[in-house]
Amino acid sequence: MPKLTTAMKDFVADQRLAFLATVCPDGSPNLSPKGLAFILDDRRIVIGEVRSPASIYNLELQPVAELNVVDRNLRKGYRFKGTCVVHKTGKEFDLLTEFLCSNGAVSTIHSIIVMTVEHANQISSPVYDRGASEEEVRSEWTRYYDALDCDCIEK
Ligand SMILES: Cc1cc2nc3c(=O)[nH]c(=O)nc-3n(C[C@H](O)[C@H](O)[C@H](O)COP(=O)(O)O)c2cc1C
Repeated sequence: MPKLTTAMKDFVADQRLAFLATVCPDGSPNLSPKGLAFILDDRRIVIGEVRSPASIYNLELQPVAELNVVDRNLRKGYRFKGTCVVHKTGKEFDLLTEFLCSNGAVSTIHSIIVMTVEHANQISSPVYDRGASEEEVRSEWTRYYDALDCDCIEK
């Protein structure tokens, strides 16, 4: 089992957006964004469920998931895969809700997903395969999104 590092913890906390993939009963994938995803300790990731009925339904039937977190400017990130437990009430639920609130959660949390990570891998864009530096990639995509935000890109 991999040890989740401080770098991973900070990265996930900084990005404030992750994508959670679960498996539907018919075997098809279910992917949905989660802003409330944080690394809890060396092995576990916590995700607050506010409005994710399909993810919860799927995890209760098949408790496996993958979480991807990517820095859109740096074009790098992490993918975490593991088994999940869903808490809806009880001491653990209360403690984890407190943890999420201390990390900025303001919405009402209905349930909490705790993923025990079995695989953790870095991911990077193929742009790095042609020798680009992090600085170059970051500045190129920062420019792109800044322009997009101010409507400067012709479509
Ligand atoms: C940027 C963003 C962040 C979100 N963060 C969360 C979250 O942390 N928890 C949650 O339950 N729903 C969150 N949502 C809402 C769910 O992704 C959305 O309701 C989705 O349809 C749930 O699908 P599911 O039931 O298949 O998981 C977020 C949506 C967006 C667009």
